[in-house]
Amino acid sequence: MNNSGELNGRVAIVTGGAQGIGKAIALTLARHGADVVVTDINLERAQETVQEIEALQVRSLAIKANVADVSATEQMVKEIVDKLGKIDILVNNAGITRDNVLLRMKPEEWDQVMEVNLKGTYACTRAALKFMFRQKNGRIVNIASITGLMGNAGQANYSASKAGIIGFTKAVAREYATRGITVNAVAPGFIDTAMTQAIPEKERETLIRQIPMERLGTPDDVAAAVYFLVSDLSRYITGQVINVNGGMYM
Ligand SMILES: NC(=O)c1ccc[n+]([C@@H]2O[C@H](COP(=O)([O-])OP(=O)(O)OC[C@H]3O[C@@H](n4cnc5c(N)ncnc54)[C@H](O)[C@@H]3O)[C@@H](O)[C@H]2O)c1
Repeated sequence: MNNSGELNGRVAIVTGGAQGIGKAIALTLARHGADVVVTDINLERAQETVQEIEALQVRSLAIKANVADVSATEQMVKEIVDKLGKIDILVNNAGITRDNVLLRMKPEEWDQVMEVNLKGTYACTRAALKFMFRQKNGRIVNIASITGLMGNAGQANYSASKAGIIGFTKAVAREYATRGITVNAVAPGFIDTAMTQAIPEKERETLIRQIPMERLGTPDDVAAAVYFLVSDLSRYITGQVINVNGGMYM
């Protein structure tokens, strides 16, 4: 995809942007001209992503921040505003899985997933909103999941966190719609990243048979939907969930 210049001069944050879907989103936004901040708990990988972004002739910054740490996210946003002047786009992408069937699911597996996926989305959104509110303009995209809509055996914690993100998206979209801020979610199906490479081969094959398009998605498939939701093309769209799943859930 060539640089359309559509996002020239905008400042974007992608949480968990060091690898996988987040990295693809960060690179896509940069290709369309945005300055992109990559935040992650893995600073080394985030810095590698930043090097690739800088080669696209936009400004970029890597910041080490745990999204579940509220004060760290506030500090992160402050640093971005100090260094890049503003925040136009926030993509809440950082997420984890701790899979187990419910009878075996330990409280810490439940808590860790809620902390990163749901509280992390709350914390980053709240921190960035303070600036977007004053600017009277902003785009927020939360990465949910197909599991938040249809459930998935072995992922009660993860499915609940992603369904929570969808409710959160709609509530915040209503609160700030008159302020020029849109809040939407993208719900990926099964995407070929480290997260799904952990699934045993046999299970992957069974999964693929349930996808009408008969393939896993790519990180770029997800990034394209995020780009649409942060571009001017989607200016009248808020509180929505865009499914990127090859038809697996309709
Ligand atoms: N891969 C899929 O099939 C799939 C499907 C639906 C939704 N998703 C969602 O897409 C997002 C990205 O998934 P992915 O497959 O690229 O995963 P990934 O594991 O490849 O990448 C996740 C990134 O988030 C970072 N991260 C983890 N915990 C963090 C924290 N506390 N603070 C900051 N960064 C943190 C990791 O270091 C990593 O760089 C997640 O929210 C995931 O739930 C993925």
